Amino acid sequence: MISVAIDGPAGAGKSTIARTAAMELDFIYVDTGALYRAVGLACIERGIQTEETAEVINVLDEISIELVFVKGEQRVLLDGKDVSDEIRTEKASMTASLVSRIPQVRSFLLELQRSFSKTNNVIMDGRDIGTVVLPDAQVKIFLTASPEARAKRRTLQLQEKGEKPDYNTILEDIKKRDYNDSHREIAPLKPAKDSVIIDTTQMSLQQSIEAVKDTIKRRIK
Ligand code: DC
Repeated sequence: MISVAIDGPAGAGKSTIARTAAMELDFIYVDTGALYRAVGLACIERGIQTEETAEVINVLDEISIELVFVKGEQRVLLDGKDVSDEIRTEKASMTASLVSRIPQVRSFLLELQRSFSKTNNVIMDGRDIGTVVLPDAQVKIFLTASPEARAKRRTLQLQEKGEKPDYNTILEDIKKRDYNDSHREIAPLKPAKDSVIIDTTQMSLQQSIEAVKDTIKRRIK
């Protein structure tokens, strides 16, 4: 089985790029952020503040999280209910980032992530895939872009959905999440030593997809 790990900060385009590359190369695409978001959503639904670490840990005993693939597309189930759309709000993003600092949350999700790579060729994206989840992945890519470029892309994305986003608020949120994700004690966001770093600040989406596909093909030849 071949595993490709794609890590990087929020908004670098990992999911769009990884999904497209997976489709074209016939791998399954696993978006691990969705799992942290599902834990975040479970906390939001229960009114639990993320600083209450013990309560967040208790939630883990009450919930079940599954990933299923419908026509090749990943859906995340929280207690059997498909929450793939609900987990996409800004609140769920921030809560996911905060609960992901808790070691018990990370170990709760670890085996689930690893299990896919045992029976499938996978492209998995997240923050610690190359460093912790799949340290033996044949290909490791660290996909990044400047905070400003990422905020601009996110603003455009929301405008296309008919929303009226504020660029500066988005930029601040991105910087906050970068800080949280790269300064936590356990499994912080950082490139694996053997990863290929791709900076997409100056690239179009199509160029980024090509750069990722070329890297994968070169490595698994
Ligand atoms: O990729 P995303 O934006 O959907 O991820 C949501 C949050 O989950 C992110 O801020 C950090 C956390 N996360 C993580 O800690 N480890 C992963 N492998 C994936 C996501």
